Amino acid sequence: MDSNWIDITNKLKLSPEYQAAFAELYAQGIQSATIKDAIATFERSLSTPNSRFDRFLQGDVQILSEQEKEGYRLFKSYGCASCHQGVGIGGNMFQRFGVMGDYFADRGKPTKADLGRFNVTGNEADRHLFKVPGLRNVALTAPYFHDGSTRSLEEAVMVMAKYQLGRQLSSEELHRIVSFLKTLSGEYKGEAL
Ligand code: HEC
Repeated sequence: MDSNWIDITNKLKLSPEYQAAFAELYAQGIQSATIKDAIATFERSLSTPNSRFDRFLQGDVQILSEQEKEGYRLFKSYGCASCHQGVGIGGNMFQRFGVMGDYFADRGKPTKADLGRFNVTGNEADRHLFKVPGLRNVALTAPYFHDGSTRSLEEAVMVMAKYQLGRQLSSEELHRIVSFLKTLSGEYKGEAL
């Protein structure tokens, strides 16, 4: 997300609230390891069921508009679902970013973060591999991609179609897929997100 642990750690250390909260929970205080642990613990508490798409899958076929259903069909037939799949609509595999084109060369200004999983394993085959993100609530979680390069869901979908599937979407197709993605917003503790 276009940041680094030194900046993040320094930023949190400037906050008396975070200083106190981390001191209470972790003997080591604020460090990249404890920040990761805090985020992972928080993420495990997140469950956002009951999106309109969930209700559709449970049999309420009227709940989606034709446009949204068409978006879902395109999402499957164009192959988005080969990577973004399962209960989380993603989140269960690593894949290369740039299967059908060199996203990084086209974007310019390469960074270490662009190497993706390679930074963790040192394995050549893992260059530019990223965890396929789950798409639940994706309409609410801009900016997109590991580089935070866009705040627009439309643009993120265009990038995916081009670099992952080698497709140029028409504005109609784009609109349908985006309207499908908006049905993935769920509820948190009973409240619509
Ligand atoms: C070959 C696997 C693959 C295919 C096919 C694919 N994606 Fe992705 N998608 C990814 C990966 C990997 C990322 C993460 C890239 C990154 O973080 O830089 C991603 C990221 C995204 C994001 C941004 C999510 C976020 O929170 O940052 C959206 C939205 C998205 N994909 C939608 C789609 C749509 C819609 C399609 C079909 C048009 C599609 N994807 C096809 C692998 C794929």
